[in-house]
Amino acid sequence: MSVPKRYTVTSALPYANGPLHIGHIAGAYLPADIYVRYLRLWKRDVAFICGSDEHGAAITLRAKKEGITPKEIIDKYHILNKKAFEDFGISFDIYHRTSDPLHYETAQEIFKTLLKNGKLTVETTEQFYDEEFNQFLADRYIMGTCPKCANPNAYGDQCEKCGTALSPTDLINPHSILSKKPPVLKTTEHWFLPMQDSQQWVEEWIKTGKFTGMEKPIAWHDPEEWKGNVKGQCLSWLKDGLRPRAMTRDLDWGVPVPLPEAKGKVLYVWLDAPIGYISATKQWAKDAGKDWEPYWKSEDTKLLHFIGKDNIVFHCIIFPIILKENGGYILPDNIPANEFLNLEGDKISTSRNHAVWLHEYLEDFPGRRDELRYVLTSIAPENGDSEFTWKDFQTRVNSELLSILGNYVNRVMVLYHKYFSGKIESATDQLDFTDQALHDFVGKIYDALGANLEQYKFRQAQFDAMELARFGNKYLTDLEPWKLFATDPVKVREILNNNLILILHLAAVIQPFMPDTAKKIFRMVNMPKEVYGWEDELTLPNHHQINPAEHLFSKIEDDVIEKQLLRLEEAKKLNMEPTNIPAQKESISYDDFSKMDIRVGTILTAEKVAKTKKLLKLTINTGIDERTVVSGIAEYFSPEEVIGQQVLILVNLEPRMLAGIESQGMILMAEAPDGSLKFVSPTEGKSPNGAIVK
Ligand code: MF3
Ligand code: ZN
Repeated sequence: MSVPKRYTVTSALPYANGPLHIGHIAGAYLPADIYVRYLRLWKRDVAFICGSDEHGAAITLRAKKEGITPKEIIDKYHILNKKAFEDFGISFDIYHRTSDPLHYETAQEIFKTLLKNGKLTVETTEQFYDEEFNQFLADRYIMGTCPKCANPNAYGDQCEKCGTALSPTDLINPHSILSKKPPVLKTTEHWFLPMQDSQQWVEEWIKTGKFTGMEKPIAWHDPEEWKGNVKGQCLSWLKDGLRPRAMTRDLDWGVPVPLPEAKGKVLYVWLDAPIGYISATKQWAKDAGKDWEPYWKSEDTKLLHFIGKDNIVFHCIIFPIILKENGGYILPDNIPANEFLNLEGDKISTSRNHAVWLHEYLEDFPGRRDELRYVLTSIAPENGDSEFTWKDFQTRVNSELLSILGNYVNRVMVLYHKYFSGKIESATDQLDFTDQALHDFVGKIYDALGANLEQYKFRQAQFDAMELARFGNKYLTDLEPWKLFATDPVKVREILNNNLILILHLAAVIQPFMPDTAKKIFRMVNMPKEVYGWEDELTLPNHHQINPAEHLFSKIEDDVIEKQLLRLEEAKKLNMEPTNIPAQKESISYDDFSKMDIRVGTILTAEKVAKTKKLLKLTINTGIDERTVVSGIAEYFSPEEVIGQQVLILVNLEPRMLAGIESQGMILMAEAPDGSLKFVSPTEGKSPNGAIVK
C-alpha cells in the first residue's frame, strides 16, 4: 500500500477534573505516542493532537462540592495533566483546551452547518428538573437507589458500585443532589442527531471500509485492520439499531448552542469534545504557520483516534456521522482502542483512590520514565483487560531492562574500554557489520517491528525491539571475546565492533518505546545526534572515541515496591468515597463551641470492660486530675497499646454510666467511613497534660 501523505493522530481528550493514572496512559496516550514517534522516524508528516476536555457535568458537580468555580478546576487539572504528559514524554504537537474561544467557534460552526444541512431535528422531551434550584438536572445530578444492586448512592448515569449504566428514570427514589428533594419532570426542547438515518452507510462503512455514494474514496481504511474488540462493539450497537441522540443539554457550563432561542443550553459532549481535536489542529497549524484543512479534509490524510474502550461507539459511529453530515471531512481510518488496565487485582478507581497516578509516579521515580513506558507497553490491554502489579513492574525492570538490555550494553562498553581504551580502529573508513547473519537479523527486526506497529501491535513490536538485546547478549556470550584476547586480539576487535553497531541499532529500534534510554546509548557511544531516523546512516568513523560506560538502569529494590503497595492499602482503608462522608452538621455559635472544655491528657491504665465487646475502661491524667473514662475503642485497640497514648479529652461532659461504670468525660477519635478509629492527639511531640484545645 502506498504511504499516506500526512497523518492526523488524536488521543482522547481527558477530562480536566482529575489527574491521570496509568490506566489512561496505557489505554490512549502511550500507544499513540509510540506510533507517532515511529512515524517521525520515517520523517512522515504528522499532527499529534490532544487537549483537555473542560466541559461536562462531572466538572460542574465537583466545583459545587468543593465550593469553587469550574474554571478553577479546569485550570488546575489542565496545567497538571499537560505537565504530567510532558514529563512522561508524550510528544503531542499540541495540548489544547476546549474552553478556548477557537474551540467554541469551531463547535458552533459545525452545529450551524448540521442545522443548515437539515441534519438535526428539534424534539420536546421530558427531563428531570429541580424546582428549588430552578434548573434542569444532568444525569450526574440525580442520585437514587440502583435497581440492580440496591446501592443507595447510584448516579443517574451509572451505578459506581456494580458498574451498570443507568438513566435517571431507572433509579428508585431519585433525588436531586442540589436540593436533596425528588426532581420533577418538565418539558424542554433539544436538538437531536437522527442517527437512524445513517444506519445503512455506517454499517457498510464499518464492514467494508466504503459505502455507496461516498463522495471521496477513503484511501487508508482497511476494515480488516480494525481490531476485533472495536468492530465487535460497533456491530452489536448497529444490530440494536441506531437511534436519535440529543446533541444539546440544559446546563450553564459548556459551549452555548448558537441560537437566540436556546438560552441556557449547551452542546453535549458529542458535539463538543471530539470537535476539540479539530480546533486543536487549527491552533497547532496557526502556531506552526501551516494550513489545518488538509489534516482533516484531504483524502490522502490518514486519520487515527487512540482511545479507551469506553469511547469506541463515540468515535466509530457518532463522531463519523457528525463529520460526514457536516460534509467535507474525512472519516477515521482506524480507531485502535484498548481495553482496560486493572491494578493489583481490582479495577482502577478515581473515587476510591485505587490508582497509580502519573504525576506521583514521576515524583517517586525520577529519571525512570522509560521503565514505566516499557512495563505499560509490555502489559498493554490490547486485546482484553490486563493488570498492573508492582511486583510485576519490579520483575520486568530488574530481569528484562536491567539484566538483558542494560547489562548487554554495559558489557560491550566495558569490554571496549578494557581492551581498546574505547577507541575504534578499523581497516575501513566506516565501521560496518562484518557478520552477515547479524546484518540479516537486524534487518528482519526492523521489518517485523514496523509491520507490528502499523497494525497497532505494540506489545509485540516492543518485544521485537528487545530481541536485539537478547540476541546481542547471546552473541557475546557465545563468542566469549574475553577468552580470545590473549591469542587473537584482532578477532576480539571484530566481535566488539559488531556489537557496537548492534548497540546502535538497538538504540534506534527502542526509540519509539524508550526515547530516553535510546538517547543515553547514543550519547555513550558518542554519536553526534540524539535521535536517528530510520533512513539515517548508523555507523561509526574510524578512530572514533566512545564515552565511558554508564548504567542504563538500576535495580528496583523491594522496599520501593512495598512503599507503593502500602500506599494502595492505605487508600483502600481510607476509601474516601465522597458519598460515604456524612454531610456537615447544622451551624453552631462560637459560644456553643467555647462551652466545650477539651484538654490534652495521657492514658495511664486501660482494661477491657467485662461482658462488652467495644468498651475499654481508661484512667486518664487530664492535667487537672486523674479520672475514669469508658471508651468504645476496644475493637480497634488493645489495652496494652493505648497506655501512654496522648489523647484529647472533653472534660466537662456530664458524667454518665456505661456498663455500670461512671465515665467522666470523652476522648476524641477520628472515625473513617468504614468505622475504623484513630486517636486525635498533638502531632509535634507531646503537649503537657491539661493543655487547652481551642
Ligand atoms: N473526555 C471524555 C472521556 O475521557 C471524552 C474523550 S474522547 C473525545 O471519556 F473525543 F471526546 F475527546
Ligand atoms: Zn448497582
